[in-house]
Amino acid sequence: MSTPPLRSNEPIVLVDGCTKNYSRGSETVSVLKSVHLEIARGDFVGLIGPSGSGKTTLLNLIAGLDQPTTGRVVINGVEISSLTEAQLALWRTNAIGFVFQFFNLIPVLTAFENVELPLLLLNMSRRRRREQVLNILELVGLGHRLTHRPGQLSGGEQQRVGIARALVTDPALVVADEPTGDLDSRKSQEILDLLQELQVRLNKTILIVTHDLAVAARVRRLLRISDGQLIDDTENPESVTHPLFGSLNVSNAARVKRAEAARS
Ligand SMILES: Nc1ncnc2c1ncn2[C@@H]1O[C@H](COP(=O)(O)OP(=O)(O)OP(=O)(O)O)[C@@H](O)[C@H]1O
Ligand SMILES: [Mg+2]
Repeated sequence: MSTPPLRSNEPIVLVDGCTKNYSRGSETVSVLKSVHLEIARGDFVGLIGPSGSGKTTLLNLIAGLDQPTTGRVVINGVEISSLTEAQLALWRTNAIGFVFQFFNLIPVLTAFENVELPLLLLNMSRRRRREQVLNILELVGLGHRLTHRPGQLSGGEQQRVGIARALVTDPALVVADEPTGDLDSRKSQEILDLLQELQVRLNKTILIVTHDLAVAARVRRLLRISDGQLIDDTENPESVTHPLFGSLNVSNAARVKRAEAARS
């Protein structure tokens, strides 16, 4: 699949008038209602909203795990909403890194083997695979845990393996659905530190779905979804992130807390 040349100011994510309906028996449920969203290259974006509001549905459209009922999804210049299943699967392997709430590691494989998995789908020499896996495990601070299996790692370490696996194919866009949902607050902050560091060092665009206000406070741009519609879009000028967007961060925790208080 050829990717058209991109202007650097072109958004890496474009969700253009997307709706998503599910049918339940004879009933049609409208889960996303005409969502328009653009995300700039190199940005660090959070998505919050109540349970059932459509966060995972929207993330899955952006990650090419699901197709919109109507509208277009264009990621890094590729209109993924018009790809076939087989094209989409190949595109996902190359273009998207996923980080999951429950890590989704394979218990019988070592940290090294778990991270190597996505590379097995690509045409790459064993030596190059090994190099890439070692590099990324080193970057996430697990160079000393290569042969440990998930059951022999802490929750935070398992999520580091999950992040390494998401990044090993060098995707432009990393999406994370509640990546700290299964971790305590100290571990959550460590995982956020790591994501932020990788975003800056490796020039990634990151989109994080979260319920955690401490996580929401650290992103550069915060989106809020309610009942299938984006209802709020705020920027945090002090946030840490890519040099394109600003310098090292304090946080907008106070602002998020005020907004929450005003709503409840
Ligand atoms: N495959 C499906 N079939 C029918 N309904 C679905 C399907 N997937 C999601 N839904 C419905 O769509 C709505 C939005 O679901 P979604 O998973 O996007 O919510 P969410 O914001 O991620 O919630 P949570 O915070 O609990 O993860 C829910 O009402 C859900 O029941
Ligand atoms: Mg969800």
